[in-house]
Amino acid sequence: MDLFEHQAKELFAEYGVPVPTGKVAHTPQEARAIAEELFAAGSQKVVIKAQVKTGGRGKAGGVKLADDADEAQALAEQILGMDIKGHTVHKVLVEAGSAIAQEFYFSFLLDRANRSFLSICSAEGGMDIEEVAATKPEAVAKVPISALTGVDRAKAREIAQAGKLPEQALDGAAELIERLWAVFTDEDATLVEVNPMILTTDGRVMALDGKVTLDDNADFRQPDHAALADEKTTDPLEARAKEKGLNYVKLDGTVGVIGNGAGLVMSTLDVVAYAGEEFGGQKPANFLDIGGGASAEVMANGLEIVLSDPSVKSVFVNVFGGITACDAVANGIVTAYKLLAERGESVDRPLVVRLDGNNAELGRKILDDAGLPGVERVDTMDEAAKRAAQLAAAGA
Ligand SMILES: Nc1ncnc2c1ncn2[C@@H]1O[C@H](COP(=O)(O)OP(=O)(O)OP(=O)(O)O)[C@@H](O)[C@H]1O
Ligand SMILES: [Mg+2]
Repeated sequence: MDLFEHQAKELFAEYGVPVPTGKVAHTPQEARAIAEELFAAGSQKVVIKAQVKTGGRGKAGGVKLADDADEAQALAEQILGMDIKGHTVHKVLVEAGSAIAQEFYFSFLLDRANRSFLSICSAEGGMDIEEVAATKPEAVAKVPISALTGVDRAKAREIAQAGKLPEQALDGAAELIERLWAVFTDEDATLVEVNPMILTTDGRVMALDGKVTLDDNADFRQPDHAALADEKTTDPLEARAKEKGLNYVKLDGTVGVIGNGAGLVMSTLDVVAYAGEEFGGQKPANFLDIGGGASAEVMANGLEIVLSDPSVKSVFVNVFGGITACDAVANGIVTAYKLLAERGESVDRPLVVRLDGNNAELGRKILDDAGLPGVERVDTMDEAAKRAAQLAAAGA
């Protein structure tokens, strides 16, 4: 999960990382009120910053400086509702303007290729870091971090020096970097990026921007992270699927897809999209992997989620029996129909089932004997995808 800048900064502040004073506003009036507070507290300038989970906000006109409360309100009016790379701005961060002497770049990230952590530091930070990295790679230091020894103050200083930060920024940067390491590890982040990290004209080092990606795999030991989720951008069906422990991603087509194993489901999406071309461009409506050991209850939950999507006109259940054999999956489908009927959610759209692999014959027989209404059995993946697309086109 990616955090908004304001969330990242709130987290930074908890760890003692210096950040500008600021608050989030959803309306120009709120922005004005916050700006008034900041000016009253002695700020010379106030910054209005679009809160969207994408980069390049400054260049898109989403970061603006205001000299008084009127201007702050006008700028907030302008930035709220703006579209930045497909993200609508629903809120702005209104914060105290800092007197910047110099801008640096700093980040910790997971270096998957080297199975390690990495820190990146450069004295040439700010909005053009991508260009610096491309044209002057020697100005961007990459310092590997051992997961065993981590980052203490000495290591933090070494990173700042490698990034060629000026002498007067070294102590402040080392302290900040050591604290960011605590954020990175204690919060189970895979990215903590500060661009720019600044040296102020009065010699302090601060985080002026913050990008944090939290590792969702660690959610079980990070109970506080659920509160950081952004309801506005999470699809309601995906949220419900997550509650049920299902691996579901909403897509925009008409053919619901349920399969066992992420690889099989991925290729099912391709096959459905391909087959759908023949039927007016029918596309997969979702990704849903019910996993290896799918019980009847998991199948029922999966069907329920997929069918709750009103754009779904047909469902393709594609199962390759492995450790969980096809007979168990077939029984799962039969029981799922009963469970759904009991929940008052009976299946009202056609289901195409392809069973192959371990105990396929037995599984097919179980399905045939059950004679569930609307269920069709097709034995090859291509043919089944075609039939599902055809049914979706007919139901649309
Ligand atoms: N509180 C602040 N005080 C003074 N200047 C600021 C402040 N916040 C941002 N700026 C200036 O605006 C520039 C852009 O801000 P920021 O880094 O937050 O956005 P961005 O880099 O465009 O966004 P992103 O990191 O999403 O690409 C900074 O490099 C800095 O010069
Ligand atoms: Mg930035």
